[in-house]
Amino acid sequence: MNIEQQLGIGIGYREQFKSELFLNKETVDFLEIIGDRYLDSNQYFQEELELLTANFPLIPHFINLSLGSAEGIDTDYLKKLAKLINKINPPWWSEHLCFSKAGGIDIGHLSPLPHTKEAIDIICRNIKQVQSYIDTPLILENITYMVEIPGGEMTEAQFIGEIAEKTNCGLLLDITNLYINSTNHGYDIDQFLSQLPLERVVQLHFVGGYSHDGILIDSHSEATPLEVWQLMEKVVSITNINGVILERDENIPPFTELLKELDRARSILVSS
Ligand SMILES: [Fe+2]
Repeated sequence: MNIEQQLGIGIGYREQFKSELFLNKETVDFLEIIGDRYLDSNQYFQEELELLTANFPLIPHFINLSLGSAEGIDTDYLKKLAKLINKINPPWWSEHLCFSKAGGIDIGHLSPLPHTKEAIDIICRNIKQVQSYIDTPLILENITYMVEIPGGEMTEAQFIGEIAEKTNCGLLLDITNLYINSTNHGYDIDQFLSQLPLERVVQLHFVGGYSHDGILIDSHSEATPLEVWQLMEKVVSITNINGVILERDENIPPFTELLKELDRARSILVSS
């Protein structure tokens, strides 16, 4: 894995702020797009993709490849995905360390894997198949989980690190997910970071969620909390980040509020 390109500070593209995004084009370095939206030949989405491609560097982010499925990868989906990535020709692309399909059923949720050697073997086998179709570097994102699957043989960070090493993948470290998991499951963030191959971290995600009955919810619906800003400062001081994405999906505020968060992330990245 060798990614040189520095993309800067960007945002996950959402149609709700399309016009404001174009009015403030100079303040957004790059966009992350949900690749699944553009897999079929729907004319509306293909025209949208052309417009975005003409105006921003794009990183495709996928949500339904289901890298952790024991039954293997859906090759029809993989072929479409590979075609889209080749068309965009980005410096890297991303998916999650999870499964979202099982027994032919689409679960519709990013589901956690047990932190076991068996799960590592399955996901590495699947990732190697994906890499045989796509030369563009794949980076892997840590998800949130409400329940830790029993039978774990290692920590989450060791699990992520071993998969990245065995497949030569980069990492998309979602620092909000890390903050949420460390709070909900009571583990130490510094220990997590000490067990992660930090040289493989290529990109960050950040956003805010909410708290319900003492549990943090990964809702992508709130302003980024202080704890996540502090974690961003820590992570950029110990890694070589190529891009940072604000990943707001719900309860989207006026675009100026999002731009303030991009500015704050930029100042953290610049001062690292
Ligand atoms: Fe994320």
